[in-house]
Amino acid sequence: MMETNRYIVDGLHRLDGEVWVHGAKNAALPILAASLLCDECEIENCPDLSDVHAAENILKHLGCKTLWETDMNGKKVLSIKSTGVSACDIPDNLMREMRSSIVFLGAIIAQCKKATISYPGGCELGPRPIDIHLSSLRKLGVEIQEDGECLECSVPQKLHGAEITLPFPSVGATENIMIAATLAEGETVIRNAAREPEILDLAGFLNACGAKIKILSDGTVAIHGVNHLTGCRYRVIPDRIVAVTYLCCCAAAKGEILLKGTKPEHLSAVLPVLEEMGCKLKIGREELQICCNTPLQSVSSISTMPYPGFPTDALAPVMAAACFAHGSTVFIENIFQDRFKHAWELCRMGADIQAEGRIAVVRGVECLHGARVRCTDLRGGAALVAAALGARGKTVIEDIRHVLRGYEKLDKTLNSLGASIICEL
Ligand code: EPU
Repeated sequence: MMETNRYIVDGLHRLDGEVWVHGAKNAALPILAASLLCDECEIENCPDLSDVHAAENILKHLGCKTLWETDMNGKKVLSIKSTGVSACDIPDNLMREMRSSIVFLGAIIAQCKKATISYPGGCELGPRPIDIHLSSLRKLGVEIQEDGECLECSVPQKLHGAEITLPFPSVGATENIMIAATLAEGETVIRNAAREPEILDLAGFLNACGAKIKILSDGTVAIHGVNHLTGCRYRVIPDRIVAVTYLCCCAAAKGEILLKGTKPEHLSAVLPVLEEMGCKLKIGREELQICCNTPLQSVSSISTMPYPGFPTDALAPVMAAACFAHGSTVFIENIFQDRFKHAWELCRMGADIQAEGRIAVVRGVECLHGARVRCTDLRGGAALVAAALGARGKTVIEDIRHVLRGYEKLDKTLNSLGASIICEL
């Protein structure tokens, strides 16, 4: 029997109302990996997503106990007890579930002094090597043997601090080093480290458990190894890409929405773009209001960069909005090699996009029309939802499992704002 897994979106319904922005997937995942090193911790605002469940399955396989509860405000809390860790491998089926499985390597190594894993899965955004992860862990004293399918890692002596300069500020590699170095002997310094808010959140979590991590003003991360981490109760930051996605949905469908529980300072590269496109924003400390009642205007060019630059994960949702803007917008993707797969799906809905290599030129059209399209990856899928909300007629979006990896109740939340989305799973 064919598996149904799609949204059916009836477009051109205004969005009005309030949205609570859930916790950040990309902050929660490394924190869950790091929880392996703590006795017991409780993660507040933990998003209830398939990628988080994949991380939870890895923790359970390793011997941790996990429990979901709901706090007084109705928000999810995930508790992890890591005192019974008994395994030091991640089976291939769990590794393939998501890219972030690689961040468990630093944690398992620090906890067990050995690890056996295979290569991680994740969105198809072009080649996603793990060379920076591996060369950095080697500098901390890890011996790694690769046979093309499997990685056998061990620590012949002790994990020790090291000076590491990353060739590129890789988010995952920075996280892996931070986690492993927390329990290493001596000082580790990571230069050219990633500076994403999720890195600060991981440092905040580890420090709350007794780690000694400092992030300097130039982004350098200094970690003074400690012997043991205790536990803590920690609140994950709100998801900045989920926030951008709702803003782009509103830009495409028109309307006025208020995002609550968000951190606008994490969106400093995206908000000016939306303002230039003609969206009216009111920026509070933890709230963000967007009002889009007039036709959108194009912006000359948007170039993705490591934080604090324009986030690669925001490219696809903003591109969906740009499809409706008057004039041409040039998108330049500098992080991943193949991040425009969704552009061809947008074209099926009547968008005018020419994409080649790392550059896409979007010429705005008056209206998109409904079509049958397919999610190619998580953010590309979210872009299709945003575009469908502003399109005339019905859009059938297939393969929405990609979207469920990163968005909690996207259809229900948008419906509560006035959208018309049927989710068939
Ligand atoms: N890279 C290497 N070698 C490495 C590691 C990375 O060449 O060892 C390259 C990658 O191939 C890529 C670039 O460096 O071209 C950036 O990769 P990075 O390691 O920074 O990304 P990541 O840790 O794999 C995280 C997010 C992504 C987000 C990127 C960039 C998580 C779980 N994932 O990925 O999020 O796009 O940082 O900000 O944190 C998403 O949520 O949809 C998503 C893809």
